[in-house]
Amino acid sequence: MSLPMLQLALDNKTLKDALNSTRILASEVDVIEAGTILCCSEGMQAVRCLKSLYPDKIVLADIKAADAGSILANMVYDNGADWMTVICCAPIATVETALKEARKRSEQDGVPRDVQIELTGSWTWEEAAAWKKAGVSQIVYHRGRDAQAAGQGWGREDLEKIARLAGMGFALSITGGLVVEDLPLFKDFPIKVFIAGRSIRDAADPVAAAREFKAAFKKYWG
Ligand code: 5RP
Ligand code: MG
Repeated sequence: MSLPMLQLALDNKTLKDALNSTRILASEVDVIEAGTILCCSEGMQAVRCLKSLYPDKIVLADIKAADAGSILANMVYDNGADWMTVICCAPIATVETALKEARKRSEQDGVPRDVQIELTGSWTWEEAAAWKKAGVSQIVYHRGRDAQAAGQGWGREDLEKIARLAGMGFALSITGGLVVEDLPLFKDFPIKVFIAGRSIRDAADPVAAAREFKAAFKKYWG
């Protein structure tokens, strides 16, 4: 199996704080995420700034779009995002219009853009089939921040859903309060990206924390 990529989630309230993290961590990670919290707080300036500082990294705008797929896709791609998220409860038209923009831009300049479906909250297998039919290739399997704070752990049900989504051909990102000790749970699946925010950013030694993730990728997927 290929080694997973490491995505740093910047759910900071200020761009200044986010940049304090990327200054030491950007070279350790593969994908830099302008987190939902950062996008709400600082807007597209955050996406623009991250891409201009780190042009060689994949920059993800985790806007969890629920509507206005075309306008929001244009907005994030105009500001340098490579990937964006659409929330799982969005109408399929939102997914399709965002994907259309991603494809159009990728064809225009040869830089791959993509749309990920963010599984926060409820969704159905019928919807998953519709995402597939629409051409979605990436899914973010997310244990929500609030659900985690309310005590929700990773369980057998999550692993069964992850296996079924992988079986449908989706590339998977896994996230939600991930710590390096969680990684063996997912070792049987071809995970494309692990996303970590607080466990890396807030670590006493953030660089060491990012390197522990990378070492675990080699141990379990190498
Ligand atoms: C919350 C998110 C976060 O970016 C995601 O949960 C990763 O951050 P952390 O590792 O701190 O949970 O999208 O909605
Ligand atoms: Mg996020």
